[in-house]
Amino acid sequence: MQHQKHLFDLSDDITYLNGAYMAPQLKSVTQIGLAAVTQKARPNEIVAEDFFSKREVLKQRFATLIDAPDHNNIAIIPSASYGIANAAQNTPIQQGDEIILVDEQFPSNVYVWQEVAKKKGARITVVKPPKNFKDRGKLWNKNILNAITKKTAVVAMPNIHWADGTLFDLKAIREKTNAINAFLIIDGTQSIGALPFSISEIAPDALICAGYKWLLGPYSTGVAYYSDSFNNGTPIEHNWMNRYNSEDFAGLTQYEDRYQEKAARYSVGESSNFVLTPMLIRAIEQLIEWSPLAIQKYCKTISTTAVQQLKELGCFIEDDPYRAHHLFGIYLPDHINLEKLKSTLKQENVFVSFRGTAMRVSSNVYNSSADFDKLIKQFG
Ligand SMILES: Cc1ncc(COP(=O)(O)O)c(C=O)c1O
Repeated sequence: MQHQKHLFDLSDDITYLNGAYMAPQLKSVTQIGLAAVTQKARPNEIVAEDFFSKREVLKQRFATLIDAPDHNNIAIIPSASYGIANAAQNTPIQQGDEIILVDEQFPSNVYVWQEVAKKKGARITVVKPPKNFKDRGKLWNKNILNAITKKTAVVAMPNIHWADGTLFDLKAIREKTNAINAFLIIDGTQSIGALPFSISEIAPDALICAGYKWLLGPYSTGVAYYSDSFNNGTPIEHNWMNRYNSEDFAGLTQYEDRYQEKAARYSVGESSNFVLTPMLIRAIEQLIEWSPLAIQKYCKTISTTAVQQLKELGCFIEDDPYRAHHLFGIYLPDHINLEKLKSTLKQENVFVSFRGTAMRVSSNVYNSSADFDKLIKQFG
């Protein structure tokens, strides 16, 4: 994998280490979007088949990216919260059951479970990391496994933590949830596209991704995988297109109880989205060409020296086996003045995020080691 900045619309005046906030856009994706916006001025050119054909392609591409055997298990969603709401509504939860979350999860994967818990009389258990940094990722993973008991109905968590990149051992968590028949719902928004993921290997019940971060897509569209355990569920809304035989425009008022195949029922209304859907297709095709594994290795290569230097400055960064390389948190030592650092970074046009108590640095193939050199320079 080589440096790919030339393919992105990204100014040379800035150092953008903030893909976890929002990805820069591929020029090819922008072009497709602009052409699609223009096409709406000529609706006569948009034919009935267009309502369905690109949706299929998007599902196929995402299925390829996540190694899902059947693209009919994919739905098109407008946001992670929407996709998780569909999963939450159809997860079997009884009174007294436990819903397991990890500490400081992104709110779109918290509020919905709080609602479910209230409605069903279930209890939320939040698994915290250890207080000390030593073996933090390892012990946090252990705490999660220990928290899963016979009372657990669902574990709803990310693949990596959105604030500091802690990597969660989904394989072990899946084994434990399988043993007690609990669901595993993954928010992949901060990892899918930049970190390899295989549905065939992990077999989660659902995997939900907003599209505008590591999928390099536009804002307000995303994709979700729902396993066959959701095939007979009830979606949170009822769009005409998701019902059986919706291709027959003349017969739409012969209302149908049946749905289209598998996860199609969970797609958002107007999922043909003539602008956003083709943009996300192009972005995912580029990711498939590069491969998430190559992207992850590239991010590791360009950040290794900086990570070492930051550790020498007294910062805590999680041990390699327990964190991602495209997104990681830097916990600053007391002798570094956070407010001063923030203002220097701003002045020098170095873009990172501050989430929880960590400074979050996130890179992709539009970055190079020079971007990390610039970051380190700001530490004085
Ligand atoms: C882990 C995670 N999930 C989801 C989202 C976005 O959620 P939504 O699409 O519901 O706005 C973010 C945004 O930062 C995120 O970090």
